[in-house]
Amino acid sequence: RPRIFSGMQPTADSLHLGNYLGALTSWVALQDTHDAFYCVVDMHSITVEFEPEVLRRRSRATAAQFLAGGVDPERSTLLLQSHVAAHAELSWVMTCLTGFGEASRMTQFKDKSQRIGADRTGAGIFAYPMLMAADILLYQTDLVPVGEDQRQHLELTRNLAQRFNSRFGQTFVVPEPYIVKQTAKIYDLQQPDKQMSKSLPGPGCLYLLDDPKANAKKIRSAVTDTGREVRFDPAEKPGVSNLLTMLSALSGREVAALEEDYTGKGYGDLKKDLADVFVEFVTPFRERVQALVGDTEGLDAILARGAERARAVAGETLAATYDRVGFLPAK
Ligand code: TYM
Repeated sequence: RPRIFSGMQPTADSLHLGNYLGALTSWVALQDTHDAFYCVVDMHSITVEFEPEVLRRRSRATAAQFLAGGVDPERSTLLLQSHVAAHAELSWVMTCLTGFGEASRMTQFKDKSQRIGADRTGAGIFAYPMLMAADILLYQTDLVPVGEDQRQHLELTRNLAQRFNSRFGQTFVVPEPYIVKQTAKIYDLQQPDKQMSKSLPGPGCLYLLDDPKANAKKIRSAVTDTGREVRFDPAEKPGVSNLLTMLSALSGREVAALEEDYTGKGYGDLKKDLADVFVEFVTPFRERVQALVGDTEGLDAILARGAERARAVAGETLAATYDRVGFLPAK
């Protein structure tokens, strides 16, 4: 079975709807046909400000949300990045293979360091994409299901794999991104030209674990346009198109069918229906997360099993890599 690897950062207590529709939905859909590794990337999350106690809570909460969203630990391997030392070890090799200019051109690095200011930007933000490349390449990954914002990181990962293979001999599978066009970029409800994001945590972001009533209100207050027609047209109607995308993904109805449903109806009807469908989805989701988080031992046992399986696979790739670059075996 082809191999999958993907990850999410435990940088908030709750995933938002962009994480769910852009990534988690694909993770769940692909786990039957692929050998999947799904990772809580706690090492990535310390590249920005954090508190140890909060990080512990969020790492478990993130794993719980993978499970509540449908990741099955019997079929997929669920792991915490810091449990598998090979991630840090391969990351160093990747860092040494990356050009300084090449890493400086990563748009997420440029955005983050600009927002935070150069003096407060840790070198971890700079090294972030090389750790991500290590995550993926360790597992001989064929496919990486992510949202559109990760495309450039995937491109760097592919370049590093090819660079290593041509210099040191075939070692890594060159991975392909798996980005579902319709849901690749979910937009903020208040600023539909920006993607829904933890860095825009206000009234335009739908955190799955927030009070459903508050989220329904956010949906009803979403920015639309001065027209009346419910039509999918991202250039002219970014707000309405975003609502249609979300409703389509959550209800399983095609956007074209939805457009027909709303002939003669208004934006208010669309918002009300989306709010209803959203609440219907998050109500059992929140209950499942609560139960999972309440069983710390059960959750930790799943992560321990995942780490064991991950270490076996990652260890083989790391050993081959170390040998190729000329590190002596510790005999
Ligand atoms: P993170 O934690 O920011 O986001 C997790 C996943 O959610 C997707 N996503 C979105 N998709 C659609 N619309 C949105 N508004 C939206 N916001 C977020 C992201 O594309 C991602 O798939 N660098 C990664 C974590 C990572 C990783 C990896 C991913 C580390 N190592 C290896 C894949 C493979 C990140 O910051 O994701």
